[in-house]
Amino acid sequence: MRKIVIAGNWKMNKTPAEARELAGAIAANDKIGCEVVICTPFVDLFAAKEAIAGSKVHLGAQNVHWAESGAFTGEISAAMLKEVGVEYVIVGHSERRQYFGETDETVNARTKAALAKGLKVILCVGESLEQRQKGVTADVITSQIRSDLAGLTAQEMKDVVIAYEPVWAIGTGLTATKEQAQEVCALIRSLLKDLFGAETAADTTIQYGGSMNAGNAADLLSMPDIDGGLIGGASLKPADFAAIIAAGSAK
Ligand code: PGA
Repeated sequence: MRKIVIAGNWKMNKTPAEARELAGAIAANDKIGCEVVICTPFVDLFAAKEAIAGSKVHLGAQNVHWAESGAFTGEISAAMLKEVGVEYVIVGHSERRQYFGETDETVNARTKAALAKGLKVILCVGESLEQRQKGVTADVITSQIRSDLAGLTAQEMKDVVIAYEPVWAIGTGLTATKEQAQEVCALIRSLLKDLFGAETAADTTIQYGGSMNAGNAADLLSMPDIDGGLIGGASLKPADFAAIIAAGSAK
């Protein structure tokens, strides 16, 4: 049975003091029945780690560099994250692809480096509005999955979560319908079967992300191939995030 994973992507929000407060509020939830992760800005990781100590909440970061160390100003290595107590790292988020020149090649390199140091990866894929309107969603997802996971083994895939995030649904309040989300998550699972075999496909957690909130989470999570969520805006509101966690725990 694959894990249900509800992950909060805080993006560039919260100072360390604010992060301590928010992480503490999320960790105070005593009804967590699924895997819960908070992916905070780098400078908030220490404060968040202290605030979630002893709880069921896991710590995540939002990016990782592919090199071990060196002249890469502004970047953070997998070993650095690991030592701070990070378990998960988001790779290939569409905001990084759109605004910071992230390519499938760099996503693949970051993924491999993270896995090599024992981090779990939340790999994001998704089509733009233009691509959906042109009818090329399946082609885009297929190409991203094949390129981003190139060279990985079935064993490494045990530490990979895929997040399907249609770019047009992120931060827009526009959510994919559960049928649209299910269709692409099922496509991703069939691609994983081709690449890594039936067992890996069945065991890999595939999240939906894009304006998931307290009101629509249960509906989206009712679909057979949607095994969790990557949540931006609503993960910054403890009551809303708790409602999404409850929906994940009920699945
Ligand atoms: P959103 O962000 O929930 O605010 O749409 C999701 C994400 O970007 O991971």
